This record gives sequence, structure tokens and C-alpha cells, in this order.
Amino acid sequence: MNKIDEIKQPIIADLLAYEKELALALQTENPILNQLSNYVLSTRGKQMRPILSLLVAQVCGGITESTIQGTIAIELLHIASLIHDDVLDSALERRNKPSVNAVFENKIAVLGGDYLLSKALFKASNSRNLDIIFEISKVGSNLADGEILQLANSKKQFITEDIYFDIISKKTASLFSSCARIGALSANATNHEIDCLGIYGTSIGICFQLRDDIFDYFSDDVGKPTGNDLREGKLTLPMLFALSKATNSEKEYLFSLLRKADLTEKEVQELQQFSIQKGGVEYATKKMYEYRDKAIRQLQYFATSATKNALMEYATYVIERNK
Ligand code: FPP
Ligand code: MG
Repeated sequence: MNKIDEIKQPIIADLLAYEKELALALQTENPILNQLSNYVLSTRGKQMRPILSLLVAQVCGGITESTIQGTIAIELLHIASLIHDDVLDSALERRNKPSVNAVFENKIAVLGGDYLLSKALFKASNSRNLDIIFEISKVGSNLADGEILQLANSKKQFITEDIYFDIISKKTASLFSSCARIGALSANATNHEIDCLGIYGTSIGICFQLRDDIFDYFSDDVGKPTGNDLREGKLTLPMLFALSKATNSEKEYLFSLLRKADLTEKEVQELQQFSIQKGGVEYATKKMYEYRDKAIRQLQYFATSATKNALMEYATYVIERNK
């Protein structure tokens, strides 16, 4: 059994129930929205976020109907944000498949994203839990805030490590944090448990984004071309660290490359090598393991169980996954 299948084991039946209900939630009489919904459901990834909220609910005492509704709500919001993100980035592929905007064009993609976001709000209200509705509204504004912050800082300029962490906390970690908090809230966890699991989720989300940013330096098998961030002039932690160690003339040369509209393959490799040689990837990797350990520390308050073990494994899986 592979790692993610092992992690899913304690909640496998609930995950199936969740999937059935997710598909039902999207059925409509509008044939275009139906096609779009079927398309996004058939091209989904590893289900990292629903697995997280279900495991958390289980570790806090048990999955309830409110857990299922809240998990669907946050997954729909996540899908909507990716559809909008691909429109904004003019991305034609996601996970090695044509993006929604490539299949249905921009206007339908934007409206389809709006539809899924509205369904997310409907499901949140179905949880009959005001705290869950609060989490969903908070994560929606954090995502938009993070994206705008990234846009405002994406003029190929140096940003500080603090700004980098602020961006990834909002655009990625807030979603993982809310998944965990929704799981805990839906299982009537104590405030202390909710807080610990929220920190667990935030730390996991930061690991997830660091892993993604490190992938840009090596793998060509993550559903997107390697060197993509560098091509877009997007500065992530490995390059930011390398730049902080660079001489003025090195910096000048690197920025002349980063600001180019179309980098050649050789120039992308040059940037990648520079960042690796200056210890940027090593530094980002070290940070990633620090956040993994921080995530695992939050679980010390929970009694030993198969579900707690799965949450510990989940933390390591996020950083050791190969795509
Ligand atoms: C992927 O980022 C996208 C996000 C992390 C969030 C996008 C959020 C919005 C567009 C705001 C819209 C919000 C709602 C609530 C609908 P990426 O481009 O770094 O990664 P990628 O390689 O997966 O595209
Ligand atoms: Mg994108």
C-alpha cells in the first residue's frame, strides 16, 4: 500500500461518503455547469485537504454530518480558487490535464468558479455551525489577500523573508489551517484542541508550499514545467536566500535574467544552479523540516491512536511526496 493510502485508512469509509455527497452537491439542471463540475471532479488531485479535515475530526472524537458538510465547503472553495487562479495566470494546464479555462474558456471558467464558491457557502451553512461559516469566510478573504499581495510583490523585485512567509501563510497555509480547524470544530473539540490543530494545519500548509517551491528547482513531474516560478520572475525562498548571499554584481546579473520576458532553458538552469550553490534550496529544506516538527509537536496533547499516527505520517508525507 502506498503512503497516502495508508494515511487514509482510518477515515476511508467517511472519505467515500464525502465524495458521494460532493458529487451530489454539484448537480444542476444547467448542462454547462454540470459539464464543468464533472470535469473538475474527474481531474482532482490527492485529496490532501479533505483527508486532513476528516482525520482531525476523527482524532477529536468522531466525524459528524457537520464534518462532511464543512469538508465539502472548504474543498469547493479550494477548487474555485484554483479555477480563478488559472484564469489569472493564463495557465493552460493543471495536474497534466487541460485547465478549466483551456476547456471552457475564461468567461465560463470565472462563472464556474463563482458557482462553486457559492455552493461552498451553501455547504458551510448546511454544517449548522457558525464557527465553520466563519472559517470559510476567513479563508476566502485570506486567499484573495495572499494572491493580491503576491501580485503586488511580483514585479521581480527582492522581497524579504517575512513578506514571503506572509504570502504563503495567506495563499496556502490558511486553507490547511481552516481544514484542520473545521475538522476540530465539527467534532466539538475543546478550544485548546482547536488551537493546536489550527497551528498544525498552518505549519503543514507552509511545508506544502515550501515543498512546491523547491520542486521548481528539480522535478519535471509535478504537473507543471520545472523552472516555472523563475520564468514568471516569481521569487520564492530558495532564490530569496541565494540573493541575500549574492554580491552586488551577482545580484545585478540575476535580476537582469529574472526580468527577461522569455528565459531560455539555459538561463533557467543558470538561475537554478545559482540558487542551489548559494544554499537556497538547502535553507528552504531546513525551514520545511522545522515546520514539519512544529506540526508534529501540536499532536502531543492527543492520545495515541491509529488516527493520530496517520496525522503524524501526513506531516512527513507533505514534505517527502514526489509530486
Ligand atoms: C495557486 O497558486 C492558487 C492559490 C494558492 C490561491 C488562488 C486564490 C485566488 C485566485 C483568489 C480567489 C479566491 C476565491 C475564494 C475564489 P500558484 O499559482 O502559486 O500555484 P499553482 O502552480 O498551483 O497555480
Ligand atoms: Mg497558478
